[in-house]
Amino acid sequence: MRVLLCNRDSDAPDAWLGDLRHALPAAQVDVWQPGLPPDYDHAVVWSPPQQLFDEQPQLRAVVNLGAGVDRLMALRLPPALAIVRLEDAGMAVQMAEYACHALIRFFREFEAYESQQRAGRWAPRPPRVRADFPVGVMGLGALGARVAQAVRQFDFPVLGWSRTPRALEGVRCFAGEAELGAFLQATRVLVCLLPLTDQTRGILNRRTLSQLRPGGYLINVARGALLVEDDLRRLLDAGHLAGAALDVAAQEPLPAGHWLWTQPGVILTPHVSAQTLRGDAVAQVVRALQAIESGVEPPGLVRRERGY
Ligand code: NAP
Ligand code: GLV
Repeated sequence: MRVLLCNRDSDAPDAWLGDLRHALPAAQVDVWQPGLPPDYDHAVVWSPPQQLFDEQPQLRAVVNLGAGVDRLMALRLPPALAIVRLEDAGMAVQMAEYACHALIRFFREFEAYESQQRAGRWAPRPPRVRADFPVGVMGLGALGARVAQAVRQFDFPVLGWSRTPRALEGVRCFAGEAELGAFLQATRVLVCLLPLTDQTRGILNRRTLSQLRPGGYLINVARGALLVEDDLRRLLDAGHLAGAALDVAAQEPLPAGHWLWTQPGVILTPHVSAQTLRGDAVAQVVRALQAIESGVEPPGLVRRERGY
């Protein structure tokens, strides 16, 4: 088995290569570079260039070193190529931490207490009621389902929305376009964990976000292009939304001077809500390649017709 590695965003390329070679002792694993002969079986990638697929049309599988395949799916890929993505691989618990942190920061008004501390003011605020903070999770996949369960542990009412009907204990589940309105209208804190596809691009917009309960919050930990940022700004300025926690932006890195850097009520992080962990990822790559080599469907197989 011959495997190409193309992980261009990595700050530890040698460690990835070493770990993959160690985990696949019978395979030849090489770092991709332009002009290699077209005799590799599989590629393991994050954010690869089009050139890789143009030069290696015989590849049988590509394993994406992340959960979201939107960048990969934007390339011209050989029609028979199997596309595999990471499923959880240590990311679900990170998403749960991140979403719960943002939710609790909003609910318990920690931002207000931080400014009170800076002003030397000791001033308790009245408690807020959990029932007034229903949390709606958009996307109930590997990550969204874990977030919904984590939020439940704090006794918030939890709702979920997915493409096809799901049943999750303690979560009021909605599905499809027809139930989106009912889901949004019952939600105050919206957590987005949808994949970026033709169907979901721009789904967080004025029409949808204005249906959240007044004083609502957005936690977008999925992809920046799901959100129409100017619509968010209008709803924050109008006071319909009280805040947002954004881990992703339409343009990354977020440009200097962008209004989001200084918008009151907005918390920003640089696309770190769930990072790829090398150990978990390499173990999942090995399982996927072994399944493919044995003619078995690998975990994390992407359905091209759905786009995720
Ligand atoms: P997943 O397991 O594929 O789950 C996707 C969920 O979204 C599923 O519940 C799916 O519905 C639902 N969905 C897809 N299209 C929909 C539509 N048109 N309408 C309604 N629901 C729809 O994905 P995941 O592993 O949880 O990851 C979710 C996303 O998180 C990734 O695609 C990636 O963009 C993002 N992510 C971000 C970071 C970060 O650090 N910021 C890290 C990892 C991942 P069904 O259940 O019916 O299929
Ligand atoms: C990160 O954004 C991922 O999709 O894994």
